[in-house]
Amino acid sequence: MKNYVGLIGLAVMGQNLALNIARKGYSISVYNRTPDRTKEFVEKRVKEEKIYPYYDLKSFVESLEKPRKIILMVKAGQPVDDMINELLPYLEPGDLIIDGGNSYFKDTSRRIRELKEKEILYLGMGVSGGEYGALHGPSLMPGGTKEAYKLVEEMLLKIAAKTEDGPCCTYVGDDSAGHFVKMVHNGIEYAIMQLIAEVYDVMRKVLNMTSEEIGDVFQTWNNGELNSFLMEISYKIMRRKDEETGKPLVEVILDKAEQKGTGKWTSQTALDLGIPTPTLNMAVEARIISHFKDLRVNLSKTLPVPKENLSLNREELIRDLEKALLFGVFISFSQGLWLIDEASKTFNYNIDLSEVLRIWKGGCIIRAKLLNFLREIIKENPQNANLLASEKAVNFLKDKIESAKRISNLGKLTGIPLLCLNSALDYYFALATENLPANLIQAQRDFFGAHTYERIDKEGIFHTEWEKLE
Ligand code: 6PG
Repeated sequence: MKNYVGLIGLAVMGQNLALNIARKGYSISVYNRTPDRTKEFVEKRVKEEKIYPYYDLKSFVESLEKPRKIILMVKAGQPVDDMINELLPYLEPGDLIIDGGNSYFKDTSRRIRELKEKEILYLGMGVSGGEYGALHGPSLMPGGTKEAYKLVEEMLLKIAAKTEDGPCCTYVGDDSAGHFVKMVHNGIEYAIMQLIAEVYDVMRKVLNMTSEEIGDVFQTWNNGELNSFLMEISYKIMRRKDEETGKPLVEVILDKAEQKGTGKWTSQTALDLGIPTPTLNMAVEARIISHFKDLRVNLSKTLPVPKENLSLNREELIRDLEKALLFGVFISFSQGLWLIDEASKTFNYNIDLSEVLRIWKGGCIIRAKLLNFLREIIKENPQNANLLASEKAVNFLKDKIESAKRISNLGKLTGIPLLCLNSALDYYFALATENLPANLIQAQRDFFGAHTYERIDKEGIFHTEWEKLE
């Protein structure tokens, strides 16, 4: 008897995904480069699940029914290529490799191309939801050929998270569409995390609230429009005590944020495609700035930051913070979706944005109640890639914009950096502005480089001799 599917890479995500697959009734062969990890996994975590360990790749591949379906849960980058190359001698035309890591979408496109020549099918699949999601139901974002997807569709739908709108898995689109969508998911993830952190900063520094008090507010918000996974974990974080000091754990964690690159790729790609995503970009910048701890400590002693003493109404401010956060989250999603839509056109992915929003509703890190509303907007006009162009968005943002402005102003008066919130506001203002000062930029370009300009009153390309050259 051959096994239904194989999985390579038994770090926590791989282990949990293997258990999830087996618990849905599929027999699964597992392999890890270091055999000790495989042994440990089978001994410690596998009970009656049909999970079978293999210690060499040849017998691992031979244990699978044909066409073979092999999921890679290895580190993104070179390890994926290495594993593919090691597998190739044992594979046959029609076999399928699924990369479930956070691979860079251009790598996925290349792998699909290279493997197509060898008649090996390939899916680049975004998997979101962390360790818990992998075990109990992640959001799955597979992309590649439809033919490849059909081979594993039934299994993927079974292991994915479920919501009232169905399993959180869909065929995202052609080529590297799945990994592209996962990358933007992470860009949005960075922005929402940063926005929550900014709101937290205002509460602790301006309102002098304790972490427990902030946790209570976050919990209340989580019962309302802001209901989301990131809000939920944030209130739980606020309440956790450090066992050693008895202080709230968050207060003893160093303020230096790490990153593995997906947020940065989102920004780089947005710049390449010419789509504005300033709020997502600022979230990456905020992590980078946080890294310069020593420099910040030194400069905090020398750089003057005028701070005003304000008398504030706590209840009103908390209400403004909630609305400002909603504003920022909405803008972050709208930037990410516009980017996905542009990529879909540029790379012929054929992505259905409403489906993307549907599979983000459960299992993934950015799952949020707001997604229902975003879907309503997209469904109203599927051709509209920019959420801000809808009347529903206008009505939604109407009262939030005032709150966002008040919080942004408060940040200026109190010297609190609000990189994401401010950028969300400026993005909104810029898109809502008929006349930007880009006319001056064009004049400057033409002045120093004869780059030419267009005019508002007649068609054509113009150049002015701004100064007589001697
Ligand atoms: C998910 C997450 C996950 C990501 C982590 C860490 O959807 O489950 O996006 O894939 O790896 O969030 O990302 P950073 O280390 O870049 O913060």
